Amino acid sequence: MKTIRVHQFGGLEVLAQDEVQVPEPGEGEARVKIEAIGVNFIDIYHRIGRYQGTLPLTLGQEAAGTVDAVGPNVTDVKLGDRVAYASVQGAYAEYAVAPTWRLVPIPKEVDIQHAAAVLLQGMTAHYLAFSTYQLKQGETALVHAAGGGTGQLLVQVAKQCGARVIGTVSTDEKAALAREAGADEGINYIQADFEAEVKKLTNNVGVDVVYDSVGKDTFDKSLNCIRRRGYMVLYGASSGAVAPIDPQTLNAKGSIYLTRPFLAHYTADRAEILWRVNDLFKWIAAGELKVRIDKTFPLAEVAEAHRYLEGRQSKGKIILIP
Ligand SMILES: NC(=O)c1ccc[n+]([C@@H]2O[C@H](COP(=O)([O-])OP(=O)(O)OC[C@H]3O[C@@H](n4cnc5c(N)ncnc54)[C@H](OP(=O)(O)O)[C@@H]3O)[C@@H](O)[C@H]2O)c1
Repeated sequence: MKTIRVHQFGGLEVLAQDEVQVPEPGEGEARVKIEAIGVNFIDIYHRIGRYQGTLPLTLGQEAAGTVDAVGPNVTDVKLGDRVAYASVQGAYAEYAVAPTWRLVPIPKEVDIQHAAAVLLQGMTAHYLAFSTYQLKQGETALVHAAGGGTGQLLVQVAKQCGARVIGTVSTDEKAALAREAGADEGINYIQADFEAEVKKLTNNVGVDVVYDSVGKDTFDKSLNCIRRRGYMVLYGASSGAVAPIDPQTLNAKGSIYLTRPFLAHYTADRAEILWRVNDLFKWIAAGELKVRIDKTFPLAEVAEAHRYLEGRQSKGKIILIP
């Protein structure tokens, strides 16, 4: 079968299309014939070696397809089931083996591509708004990169919680997408000083929570946008890693809380995964959550997909088709 692997960490040139044996599922595992693969920023981190993996490394953490083989003692899924999963390494391939507790059956109302598109970013939006910080009716959230893949989903979930959402974006096109997702206010953080704008929009009180996936370029100002005892949720580093911070800074900014959450820690068992994904699928079926597939590339054109995401172009989900 075809896979996309890296034999050394680096730029787009390290992406190699390799032929390897189709994997066999072991105890508690199933093999998925993959029909759609989700591309995520974490794949870039794996490619460049920011998150170390064992080489050669098959990239990809998210896919959807059909169960075509099961190992011993499998009860969660059966042959022929349409399933989707996230947080299992090796999705850039025609087949992958995954622990069955991570495989979620796809309801008939959701097509395979949208299932692959929503798993990772959707569960992220869900845990950020329900678990890392439980957003409540009438509270205000600042969502950075609100026109991106995770951003558009997070805006929608935050609105479902009854929050007021201020979204930052870099272009007018992304501003329109953030508004379509439900953002109450949009700030172009290339043209305007988002800290000053947020202070204006909150009468100098600050927001209850900042969801910051941009990192280096936004972190310091984000801390200044938070109300006393509010929450700084740094969940990504699209612009680069944040420098180490002195805990005293959190005191000086108003006894604020800082966390750096990770999806795997919020999808720790099958019950938690099913809670989050079944909410997402239910909202999609009811027309309450829109999952925007921005671009679809053949697996062989993976370099183009990475170039697009790294190049700040993404306006929704990027999918690879094996
Ligand atoms: N911790 C977790 O559990 C978790 C889970 C999922 C995703 N994430 C993180 O969330 C972030 C977003 O991931 P995603 O896959 O949904 O991507 P995405 O938001 O679709 O794309 C990244 C966005 O970041 C913004 N950005 C700002 N500076 C950038 C730069 N220098 N280079 C590239 N993009 C820049 C861009 O929006 P503008 O042009 O509007 O600025 C871009 O569209 C990533 O950092 C990812 O690691 C974390």
